[in-house]
Amino acid sequence: MKVEGQTFIVSGGASGLGKACVEEICNAGGNVAILDLNEENGKELAKEFSGSAKFFVCDVLSTESIAGAIKGAVDWSKQTSKPLRGVVSAAGVASPATMLDRHGKALSLDVFDFVVNINLRGTIDLVRQALEHLAQVEPTGSDLERGVIVMVASSAAFDGQKGQVSYSASKGAVTAMTLPMARDLARYGIRVVTVAPSLFDSRMTMMMPDKVRKSLEGAMEFPKRAGHPGEFAQLVRQAIENIMLNGVTIRLDGAMRMPSKM
Ligand SMILES: NC(=O)c1ccc[n+]([C@@H]2O[C@H](COP(=O)([O-])OP(=O)(O)OC[C@H]3O[C@@H](n4cnc5c(N)ncnc54)[C@H](O)[C@@H]3O)[C@@H](O)[C@H]2O)c1
Repeated sequence: MKVEGQTFIVSGGASGLGKACVEEICNAGGNVAILDLNEENGKELAKEFSGSAKFFVCDVLSTESIAGAIKGAVDWSKQTSKPLRGVVSAAGVASPATMLDRHGKALSLDVFDFVVNINLRGTIDLVRQALEHLAQVEPTGSDLERGVIVMVASSAAFDGQKGQVSYSASKGAVTAMTLPMARDLARYGIRVVTVAPSLFDSRMTMMMPDKVRKSLEGAMEFPKRAGHPGEFAQLVRQAIENIMLNGVTIRLDGAMRMPSKM
């Protein structure tokens, strides 16, 4: 699927890895509907790419909010004659918490629900609502491709650390959904690719204590540093463009396997 002349929805597009995808797609001649809770950052980014990016406020915890943002994105794609061709689902939260805290109190279900509802339920809700539109667009190219879904997992889907039970559950489930989703959508010419990054520079990882960050960087094999958001966006662009990528979760991690402890 070529990027140029098409519209893509990027959730979590106001910051970090999602923002890098917005930049990558716009610079490649595509249009991006930026969906995010953060209006200030989202509007600022849309202004930077005025004409090729538009911000739609969206809380992925709310089905109605997603519906409103998708309607806006689809209407805009029709006005600009750049059909909707894909979704990059990058909105996410980490919210670490251990199974038992230092006072012996069990993991709060509120924390578990919050993380799973944004990272997993929010992903499937966004994707399923966008699919109703994606399945209607004209197929393109000799393979009759309609579109592509890119979801975001994490190294924590495979080797979650202490305090990452909720986060790992949400990202492991995103990984597990990838193949059955691709199988469901094959008949529509829609592909599904998940990217599982390790440590990447973003607002999420900026909030990590220095010690934690250093320890994670130390666990990278090569290169021994956090990934740059642009390197993540490069792979997302490849996932959009390379029709043979389908039903797979790709680790983007410099051969890092997260250690048990920091
Ligand atoms: N940065 C990393 O090292 C790393 C590693 C593995 C996976 N990831 C995943 O990458 C994705 C992007 O994370 P990031 O590092 O860029 O973080 P980030 O905090 O920089 O960006 C996340 C964005 O999601 C938005 N968001 C949060 N809750 C939302 C909601 N309910 N509705 C709509 N938008 C919401 C935020 O406003 C923010 O703009 C996440 O899914 C994260 O789990 C990041």
